[in-house]
Amino acid sequence: MIVAHTPADFAAALRAEYGPEARPALVPTMGALHRGHRELMKWARRRDRPLVVSIFVNPLQFGPHEDLDRYPRSLEADLALCEAEGVAAVYNPDVDTMYPNGTPRVLVDPGPLGTVLEGRSRPGHFAGVLTVVAKLFHAVRPAAAYFGEKDYQQLVLITAMARDLDFGTDIVPCPTVREQDGLALSSRNQYLSTVDRKRAQELSRALFAGAAQGYRGADAVLAAAREQLSEVDVDYLELTDPDLGPVPERGAARLLVAARVGSTRLIDNVPIAVGEE
Ligand code: PAJ
Repeated sequence: MIVAHTPADFAAALRAEYGPEARPALVPTMGALHRGHRELMKWARRRDRPLVVSIFVNPLQFGPHEDLDRYPRSLEADLALCEAEGVAAVYNPDVDTMYPNGTPRVLVDPGPLGTVLEGRSRPGHFAGVLTVVAKLFHAVRPAAAYFGEKDYQQLVLITAMARDLDFGTDIVPCPTVREQDGLALSSRNQYLSTVDRKRAQELSRALFAGAAQGYRGADAVLAAAREQLSEVDVDYLELTDPDLGPVPERGAARLLVAARVGSTRLIDNVPIAVGEE
């Protein structure tokens, strides 16, 4: 497995192994890899392309009071997991390689969608995400890149960026991987105490309870979901259309939640059909 730390080394190693025209599949991550990341790798391997995983904890997408310093880092275990998943190359730049001049002067602007939902409590977050993903796409030149529905707003914005800015990379959504009790896998679940881990079940319970009321319409969905949320500190619970616009009277929609559980902020979402049996 190739492990490269700079764009030049990465390009040279990939070219030597797979030829000058190689267009890999890319799974971008911040490391602390878990079963959710592994499923993305499995999806990405279904097509016959060399699989590249990037591991980079991106300071640009963390706010000043967020968890950049304590974000879990486990490079050795991550590399072993990649190796076991048949990854062709890991791209693992350090911060100075990614941002040699400090914070870039030019960022990718997420537009109005960057200020709703997650963007409301995390100003600048999506500009940080889109900027690093653009840089990763330039370094890796993937034919396709795989993202989890778990981070739904991120997925919608990256899909829009790839399309609107002509990246020539297909963005492939992958379903959310959950624990048996419904909790969506996340690197941040490691922060939860035993008590908070139990409380965290409320998020997925709320989403499933809401989804079950879809046929009764938007108000019933939100009421059923809200009823499940008593021990967590809800940041938002919203029902939107699949592009995060206003919820349709009937048809496909998305139910999204963010809540603080102890000192940990968790997000989750599910697809839902409203107004239909
Ligand atoms: P990270 O949180 O490491 O997630 C990497 C990818 O794994 C994302 O596409 C995310 O949606 C997906 N993922 C995480 N948990 C998942 C789960 N339970 N089921 C399915 N997919 C899951 O998201 C980021 O990193 C960063 O913002 C990044 C895109 C790498 C840019 O820095």
